[in-house]
Amino acid sequence: MKWETLGFNDIPDILNSVDDGLFQGLLDYAYDVKRKTVGTKVYFRGLIEYSNICIKNCYYCGIRRDNRSARRYTMTPAEVADAGMLAYRQGMGSVVLQSGERTDGAFIDTVTDLIVRLKEVSGGKLGITLSLGEQSPDVYRRWFDAGAHRYLLRIETSSPALYARLHPADHDYGRRVECLSVLKGIGYQTGTGVMIGLPYQTAGDLAGDIEFFRDMDIDMIGMGPYILHSDTPLASGFEDAHATQTERFRLSLKMVALTRILLRDVNIAATTALQVLDPAGREKALRAGANIIMPNITPSKYRPDYTLYQGKPCADEEPEQCMGCLNARIRMIGEEVGLNEWGDSPRFKERAEAATASSIPVRNDT
Ligand code: 5AD
Ligand code: SF4
Ligand code: FES
Repeated sequence: MKWETLGFNDIPDILNSVDDGLFQGLLDYAYDVKRKTVGTKVYFRGLIEYSNICIKNCYYCGIRRDNRSARRYTMTPAEVADAGMLAYRQGMGSVVLQSGERTDGAFIDTVTDLIVRLKEVSGGKLGITLSLGEQSPDVYRRWFDAGAHRYLLRIETSSPALYARLHPADHDYGRRVECLSVLKGIGYQTGTGVMIGLPYQTAGDLAGDIEFFRDMDIDMIGMGPYILHSDTPLASGFEDAHATQTERFRLSLKMVALTRILLRDVNIAATTALQVLDPAGREKALRAGANIIMPNITPSKYRPDYTLYQGKPCADEEPEQCMGCLNARIRMIGEEVGLNEWGDSPRFKERAEAATASSIPVRNDT
């Protein structure tokens, strides 16, 4: 394979290949591209799993509305502020506030206050990323005005047909795409991503996912393997359509590598789900082109209940333990941790510079 001339048309063949030499060659080339485009500094985003209450009913997710066996929680504002302070003191440039989806007024107001508090505890320094699902343009704007600057909203799959098989009829693919456009228009650094190895997902669908990232001009990408949760319709009803764990893991690493090679200067997360399928999953993703890690900084008493999927690592660990552990893992593979920086992608920085010359609002690290 001539990696230098790799194009989007080659993606399906590479994803379908079972050749070990090709697999390793792909990962090595992607690592080379990573070193030349974003370097070998890994940025941390402290992940605060704020609440597992969700009004949605995605067929694959363990905290979906209809899962009666999930024990629901919401962190208190003081707990969120403490988590932010901890992240800041440990040198994490930014935090991600993530939760199940809610659109009621009380939730929107509380989140607005939380953003303000997270800013306050860090003297305005901590970067704030939200991952709170689909909201109205007004709400996205309000949270931006309160101080959030990045938003993560996974498209889950870029295939509208597959999206429809994984969600109830009132979960609308078009609306999700629209949300991504609105977020970008407001000035958020916008991230998206997909699950890999979903039942009925084809190599063509996954190739389409990378094209989607390109077409939407996305700077931050978070993708990970689909992992079963036994209390969900997708795990109980589609056994014959599931790929093996090994297949899903290899596919995920290939997707990280292909995205790095084809999109070059974007930020790509080594997601926690990878570590469920392989104990060194996140390090392997860093060696395949990823450059972002999201240490879990949720207080340990809530962790076992934020189960989007089963087998999540670090259920009993305290935030400091995960930080130390990830630091060591990163050094072990010869990379460096980027401390006290937001760690914007080079691609975003370039666009921000161009936009300052026009009237588009941007908020960046400079
Ligand atoms: N396996 C892997 N990822 C999942 N997510 C939800 N359920 C699962 C699962 N069973 C992911 C979705 C969502 C993110 C917060 O978690 O991609 O966007
Ligand atoms: Fe809710 Fe997100 Fe889970 Fe869907 S994937 S049920 S929106 S938490
Ligand atoms: Fe949590 Fe290793 S990442 S203990």
